[in-house]
This record gives sequence, C-alpha cells and structure tokens, in this order.
Amino acid sequence: MSVESTTGPLTTEAGAPVADNQNSETAGIGGPGLIQDQLLIEKLAHFNRERIPERIVHARGAGAYGTFTVTADATPYTRAAFLSEIGKQTEVFLRFSTVAGNLGAADAVRDPRGFALKFYTEEGNYDLVGNNTPVFFIKDAIKFPDFIHTQKRDPYTGSQEADNVWDFWGLSPESTHQVTWLFGDRGIPASYRHMDGFGSHTFQWNNAAGEVFWVKYHFKTDQGIENLTQDEANKLAGEDPDSHQRDLRESIERGDFPTWTVGVQIMPAAEAANYRFNPFDLTKVWPHADYPVIEIGKLELNRNPENIFAEVEQSVFSPHHFVPGIGPSPDKMLQGRLFAYGDAHRYRVGINADHLPVNRPHATEARSHGRDGALYDGRHGRQKNYEPNSFGGPAQTGLPLWQPAPVAGSTGEQAAPSHAEDNDFVQAGNLYRLMSEDEKGRLIDNLAGFLAKVSRDDIAARAIENFRNADADYGKRLEAAVQALRG
Ligand code: HEM
Repeated sequence: MSVESTTGPLTTEAGAPVADNQNSETAGIGGPGLIQDQLLIEKLAHFNRERIPERIVHARGAGAYGTFTVTADATPYTRAAFLSEIGKQTEVFLRFSTVAGNLGAADAVRDPRGFALKFYTEEGNYDLVGNNTPVFFIKDAIKFPDFIHTQKRDPYTGSQEADNVWDFWGLSPESTHQVTWLFGDRGIPASYRHMDGFGSHTFQWNNAAGEVFWVKYHFKTDQGIENLTQDEANKLAGEDPDSHQRDLRESIERGDFPTWTVGVQIMPAAEAANYRFNPFDLTKVWPHADYPVIEIGKLELNRNPENIFAEVEQSVFSPHHFVPGIGPSPDKMLQGRLFAYGDAHRYRVGINADHLPVNRPHATEARSHGRDGALYDGRHGRQKNYEPNSFGGPAQTGLPLWQPAPVAGSTGEQAAPSHAEDNDFVQAGNLYRLMSEDEKGRLIDNLAGFLAKVSRDDIAARAIENFRNADADYGKRLEAAVQALRG
C-alpha cells in the first residue's frame, strides 16, 4: 500500500470517525480526564503494546525480497521441485542481521552476520538460516545458551565483558577457527551486500532414486567482498548506526539489485563415515579440493519490505522448514536448532506466526489441521479439523521429505564419532597461514586489542594457548601484542 492511498477520515481502531485527535476529553475546562475518552485510552494502550520480544540473538537486522533462479541441473542430487529445472524462479525473503547486539545496536560491528533465507516454494517454504561464515564457535547445541550468555550483557555490569567472552573461548578450543575468521578482515563486512553467505551446516539432499548426498551451501557475493577496518567501523557505527540497513534499502530503491552466485559442495553419503574429519562438525569447512563448489543458481534481492515491523521484525525462519528432497544431517548443532527456532517463534510472535503474510507459503497454501490460538485469522472456515476424515480434507502423503540416516551404538551424552583427522586447531592454523603478512598483522591487532582487556592473566594465557596450538607463530605474535598492550 502506498502512503498516498489512505483516504477518508481518521478513525478509531474500530473504524469510528475521530473528531479531535489533539485534545483529550476533560470534565470541564482544566478538569481531570474521563474514562469515556476511549480514543485516549485506546491510543495509550496500543502504544504500550507496540513491542514484541526481540530475538534472543540476531535482534538487529534488515530484510528484502527477491528471486532465486536455477542455473544448473541439480536433479541428480535432489528432487526438490524448486531446483528441478534450469531457469526456474522462486520468490525469496532474506533477512540479514548481526548476532550479539540488541534491536537498536549499530550495524558496523565485529560480529558474524546472519543470512536467513526463505524460499517460497510450491512444496512449502524452505528456510536456510545461515551466516556469513562457513563455520561456528561450537559444535554441540547444548553449549549455545552458555556461549551466547558470554556474548551478551553481563548480569552485573550490564555490558559485554571481555572476561566472559575470552574465558569461554579459551575453555572451548573448538572456537579457535571461527574466532580467527571473525577477527580477520572479513569480521566486519562493509555492507550486507558485500559479503558471502553460507548454510554452514551439512544438510541432506536426496534425489528421485532415493540416493542421499550431504551438501553445504555457498552464496558468493557478486558485488565483491568489501570490509571495514576496526577504526573505520568504530567511526561508522557512531556516525551512521543503521549503515547496513540503509545501504541495502537504498541500493534496491535505485535499482542496483544485489546478487549472489549460489553453489553447493556435494558429498555422496557413503563417503561420510570414512572422511578424514567428521563432516557434520560445524567448526570445520570441507576443503574445496575434496569437494568443489558446484554452481546451481543465482540469488537476487529486488524489493524492499513496505513495513519493517510486519515483514522484518515478525519474519520467522526455521531450520526445520524443509521441503521434499532436503533434510537434516546428524550435526549436533543443527539438531538443536531444529527445535529452538519454532519455539522462539511461538514465544516471540505467537502460535500463528506462520500465518503472517511474510511467513506463510506464497507458492502453495498451508493445509494443516492446526487451529485457533491467539490472532487466528479463521482461514480454514468451516473445514473439518481432523485427519483421517471422510469429508475430503487434506490427508497425509506417506512420502517422507528426506531419507532415514543409519545410527549405531547406545544412547548417552557423547561426542560425535571420531574421525582420523578430527582436530580443533588444524583449520584455524591453515586459515592463519593463508593470510598475507598485512592480514596477519591486522588479525593480531584486532585480537590483541580485545584480549588485552581481560582482567585475569590466566584467561588471556589460556586463550593464547589455543592460537599457539593452531600455529606457533600465531600464538607467539599474539602473546607479544597482548603483553605490549597490558604492560
Ligand atoms: C536466530 C538459536 C546457531 C543463524 C536465532 C534465534 C534463536 C537461535 C532462538 C532467534 C529466532 C527468532 O526469534 O526468530 C540458535 C541455537 C543455535 C544457533 C540454539 C545452536 C544450537 C546458529 C547457527 C547459525 C545461526 C550455527 C548460522 C549458521 C541464525 C540466524 C538467526 C538466528 C541467521 C536470525 C534469523 C532471522 O533473521 O530471523 N538462533 N541458533 N544460528 N540464528 Fe541461531
């Protein structure tokens, strides 16, 4: 709806014309207010309820609609209908975000960026809720609340504390790869348009013959990678806190539509068990030499949301929203996420969150037997609300979306199966060694600037030990830089 299209008098929420929106009603001139002034009461009460809980993570973000176009034949690997034909287009909505900051936080900060993509496919919505980093800090969902507590505000000081962040990272050596990534040049993208996206986890694809493949998604920015240095970011965050959100909106407004080239790495299922490291470990990338990135599509963003609250704040993305031909892997992080998001949506937006225009299917309709609840819109009318039924209601298909995965052993609180080259440091060291001398210098400066703020030497020493384990030179230089700053 355009801003000009609203005609007619101002009304109450119930549609009655409003006579005076400037003066509330009083008993006599200069007297107290009256309970019969329902306009005043309605306005104040509505205003008090304008906010819903912000996302517990990724609260600060911006979104846009667009199109995904298939550019290569993916049918040997998946039977997903939206990937079935070269040239086929699917509407998408993409929400970018930072992780730790609250709703009003500045965009230009060192933090991973969320890359949450909803494909409105004819077989239902497929949500790929990824980041701009191919890896993550931890590899088991049970550690996520503790990890995020260290990133967010301390219960006593009310601020993010270097002590908490580094204490957790030092005690969680599996974070070394992602921390190296985050404090390197790509840790502060110049905008949402100038960064890559990743599905990060390993997912299952299955084809029409029932064959299973493990896949990782890559979204390569066609705008080119552009980053900010720490100093540039500090300045921008102060001068233009909404820099990323503004950049995205303005580029779409001027018709400069950002695009990403979409690719996948594909591992035949049989290769997983004996791969050199656990292929479901979210702290590791699959080297391209082992599994090259195969291009499958193009993503374009070309339409801004009309209303940020309705379409961005109330948008919900669920890693458990799969479509036929795509499913989960045994990645222990992903398994936790399959629960966490739907639960967050029920709390944050309500039980009918999936009925909102931005969240509901656009290329098909939802035909569930779920009914009622807060803000139910009555969409099912008089249809029967149970199954099986003999009135021609929607019925189960008997066709699972994904193929079953084999399991072995006993139940128990246990780590993922070990592989020959499982190791928390090798890929962090490889990333460090890949960097130019200048990049290494900036990485050390960025890390040392933050690590030097910790109050205890043992916390700093433990953190440095992880980087030393990744690469002796890395650890040595960081130690010297931290000592120089701490005096
Ligand atoms: C948002 C949980 C790991 C990407 C969220 C939200 C929760 C959550 C509860 C807020 C959802 C909402 O209110 O709508 C978790 C848990 C994790 C985990 C329990 C680990 C076990 C990850 C990982 C990634 C990721 C590994 C990326 C690879 C995102 C993104 C959003 C988000 C992009 C924002 C979605 C949006 O734009 O609405 N996460 N998360 N999370 N998470 Fe995670």
